[in-house]
Amino acid sequence: MTEPKKLYVRTFGCQMNVYDSERMSEALGADGYVQTDDIEDAELVVLNTCHIREKAADKVYSDLGRIDQIKRRREAAGQEMTIAVAGCVAQAEGAEIIARAPQVGLVVGPQSYHRLPELVRRAGAAGHLVDTEFPEEDKFAHLPERTTGAAAGGRMLPAGPAAAFLTVQEGCDKFCTFCVVPYTRGMEMSRPVAAIAAEARRLVTRGVRELTLLGQNVNGYHGDGPDGRPWSLAQLIAHLAGIEGLERLRYMTSHPRDMTDDLIGAHRDIEKLMPYLHLPFQAGSDRILAGMNRKHTANDYVRIIDRVRQARPDIALSTDIIVGFPGETEAEFEATLDLVRTVRFAQAYSFKYSPRPGTPAASLDRQVAPEVAAGRLERLQKLLGDQQSSFNAGCIGKVFPVLFEKPGKHAGQLVGRSPYLQAVHATAEADLLGKILPVEISAASFRSLAGVVRMA
Ligand code: 5AD
Ligand code: SF4
Repeated sequence: MTEPKKLYVRTFGCQMNVYDSERMSEALGADGYVQTDDIEDAELVVLNTCHIREKAADKVYSDLGRIDQIKRRREAAGQEMTIAVAGCVAQAEGAEIIARAPQVGLVVGPQSYHRLPELVRRAGAAGHLVDTEFPEEDKFAHLPERTTGAAAGGRMLPAGPAAAFLTVQEGCDKFCTFCVVPYTRGMEMSRPVAAIAAEARRLVTRGVRELTLLGQNVNGYHGDGPDGRPWSLAQLIAHLAGIEGLERLRYMTSHPRDMTDDLIGAHRDIEKLMPYLHLPFQAGSDRILAGMNRKHTANDYVRIIDRVRQARPDIALSTDIIVGFPGETEAEFEATLDLVRTVRFAQAYSFKYSPRPGTPAASLDRQVAPEVAAGRLERLQKLLGDQQSSFNAGCIGKVFPVLFEKPGKHAGQLVGRSPYLQAVHATAEADLLGKILPVEISAASFRSLAGVVRMA
């Protein structure tokens, strides 16, 4: 028997890339590759890249420099290594990547992952290959079915074998003026309900208890339902909630414009839908929001949050915020702080605006000086940090159902997630992995909670 070929995958960026990396690994696994954690050992290295901000994209090139050294060492020892760049940098930069980094053999965009084994072979034969097409065919329909257990080895699931991501929608046609997603991931596309449900069932068979439904604009979901009509995300969630053995559902990322009544109602009516909502607002000033082409005002956002809280009073809120969008004044930045104070978040992601080539905002005048943006980000993060710490501190003394996902840093400890997506550390035996148990919270920090398992 010949040695299996070794595959090393490195993932940058968002959860959609984490999901895509799993699917790529499985597609290559079906072609005889096995995964390795040791890049020196790999015949095929896949970098699944992110283009959302300049820093993320730059990281790819510095990584490629280091990997080139490894490739040369392997080649000196008579071993091959193919380097593939996948993901959003691949889509955005295409052949430019090979011009800048000739050690790269294959550049493959997110819409071609189902053809990966074939593309790797062709790249091997040709020396270089670039495939950033947006083909008519549905890649999800052509990817191999999800494995149901051993072959996945658990190890391939970075979210932990008890919790997994499932992409239900891709692309975005909202065209926020700062964002590359409409260009790298293309127009909105929703997968059919039946295909999603089948994939969910297979994941449950391999031990998954919690699914996070993913999409760049997941609440804009409008996939074909079993009745031949487009179904909303709320309908999809209700349908998946019927799967036995699946205990928890989440979804991300959403746009305020698509926060429909039925989705808000789902937070009241569907017990398996966890009380957590990630809803980016990006900026608190209506003038900046208009410049971002967000199609909502600060007040619209507050009203949506009020309705969500009426449906599910304990819901934990999370958001994305950008500071230093071109032309943002001090007063406009303070409107962002005000909105954060009004809403109060359990958790949030905040970023300095980063001009992305090809997006409308990149060519606007009045770019904010980097040191001004840095100062604003620091002030914003201080406020968000305080809110997160106080949300966590408010959990002390409460008992939460915790889904245990992985071993903790210390022996005899496991880490799980609360319904509010907080990491919870507890002393527990490994046989509780994959189980949901009541945990009484005894300590809280900015980052996580700790508690004691209360056995029934
Ligand atoms: N600069 C800074 N942050 C950005 N994001 C998207 N594009 C940019 C950009 N050009 C942020 C938004 C988005 C999150 C995924 O990344 O807040 O919601
Ligand atoms: Fe980008 Fe806006 Fe679409 Fe989100 S909604 S992916 S920020 S264009």
